[in-house]
Amino acid sequence: MAYTIDLSGRVALVTGASSGLGWQFAQVLARAGAAVALGGRRLDRLKELRAAIEAEGGDAHVVRLDVTETASISGAVAHVETEVGNIDILVNNAGISQSGPLADLRPEDFDRVFDTNARGAFFVAQAVARRMIARAQGAAPGTWAGGRIVNIASVAGLRAVSQLGAYAMSKAAVVHMTRVMAHEWGRYGINVNAICPGYIDTELNHGFWGTENGRRTRDALPRKRVGRAEDLDLVLLMLAAGQSHFINGAIVNADDGYAV
Ligand code: NAI
Repeated sequence: MAYTIDLSGRVALVTGASSGLGWQFAQVLARAGAAVALGGRRLDRLKELRAAIEAEGGDAHVVRLDVTETASISGAVAHVETEVGNIDILVNNAGISQSGPLADLRPEDFDRVFDTNARGAFFVAQAVARRMIARAQGAAPGTWAGGRIVNIASVAGLRAVSQLGAYAMSKAAVVHMTRVMAHEWGRYGINVNAICPGYIDTELNHGFWGTENGRRTRDALPRKRVGRAEDLDLVLLMLAAGQSHFINGAIVNADDGYAV
């Protein structure tokens, strides 16, 4: 028997959809049938992605979202729920990187990274979960399908990686945030899980792989290779699917064995 993941009738919000993993996650969810809200700051890029999804017969909507601004978060979530529908799936993907020795880390860089990766991810999830909780509380028994929150953490949040300073610490916060949310929101039918990708070639790090340092980093990986965005398709679909209702609080490594 063929096994399919069908997200028809579901509404998904992907943050940081204008490039890299977010771009790919949005396409994957749309191909599985979900209506996808593309959240981000670069509206031209988001419109380009919307056109690409529509060209494949999918349903996509652009929403301006800066995860460092709480007003932008509440406005974007309200906009999606009014214009597209109740959010069933959140992919908390927006993130920024920062590198350099810990001894040189400046308070402003620490704050910038935490504001996006940890604080931003938290308040987006909170805004979405508040609405999911309200719906769960108002639903007749057995009628609530449940929500899915997928936080994009990193292998750097699981094991020490040098020179990634505040980034690694912020991703460790995302890992634990996932567990706390799963623990507290599970009773409302909300499943919160995290994906910890290893190195994936995206806009975030593309320039690095061509450098001497990049080649050394790649050669030190277990299989001396860097992943592609599509290598995460299946793990994302699994965590977004209705069938994964028994998976809550999981931290899923997708790193080619780097964290072990
Ligand atoms: P990317 O730089 O292509 O994508 C990050 C996206 O987040 C961009 O579209 C950016 O505009 C958006 N973003 C940043 N700040 C934002 C803000 N304040 N509001 C809204 N959007 C904002 O990089 P990539 O690789 O696609 O990263 C996606 C996620 O995956 C990030 O959370 C990153 O930390 C994580 N990750 C990436 C890995 C990699 O090797 N590429 C490895 C592990 C985790």
